[in-house]
Amino acid sequence: MTTNKETKTNIFNTIKNDPEFWIRKCRSEDLDDVIDVNEKELPEDYPYFFYKNILDDFPECFLVAQNQHGKIIAYIMWRVEKAPSANSLKYINKGHLVSIAVSEGFRRKGIAKALLSNSMKAIQKYKIHEYVLEVRVSNYTAIRLYEKLNYKIESIKKNYYRDGENAYFMTLDAKDF
Ligand code: ACO
Ligand code: ZN
Repeated sequence: MTTNKETKTNIFNTIKNDPEFWIRKCRSEDLDDVIDVNEKELPEDYPYFFYKNILDDFPECFLVAQNQHGKIIAYIMWRVEKAPSANSLKYINKGHLVSIAVSEGFRRKGIAKALLSNSMKAIQKYKIHEYVLEVRVSNYTAIRLYEKLNYKIESIKKNYYRDGENAYFMTLDAKDF
């Protein structure tokens, strides 16, 4: 059971002041709907426990968007990883974007941009120094979205996807967000 109070605390904002959509933290009872969106919109599918582990470990930056009927139409999830920094041997925390998708009928309304910027702010609680992600070199739409938030292509990861496609590795220094 979710009380109204809990639901309200979870609302970050409305998108473009449009109350038709709103963003809140994901809850475990949302995961089946999140998986539905993922399976329709992306070829990279994961088992339930994969989502559940990410939600348990990094709940602050696992967000969903709902429409006015309460239907989940988009999600974003991140993992925090310790990795060597680019310019020293020191290990730093990186925010790794695991997956984002918006249901086809709800695209180009600013939902992905709102999910990204809200979750990037939220993940700062885990003291990350850098945001990183991989994206298919053919995924022009997503690349444009990340560039809009100042991500830069740092390298190409050959054969990154199971079908052999290459990935761009894109990064953004946390202080540049
Ligand atoms: N063509 C060109 N640029 C686009 C397009 C498009 N069709 N769609 C979005 N953009 C760019 C634009 O710069 C846009 O800003 P603008 O509308 O002010 O010009 C910006 O992205 C933000 O657009 P949003 O409306 O916030 O994006 P949307 O909510 O439509 O979602 C997304 C974008 C997530 C890429 C969506 O198309 C989608 O779900 N695609 C399938 C799943 C996917 O590819 N996910 C990313 C995989 S990589 C990963 O998960 C790490
Ligand atoms: Zn990745």
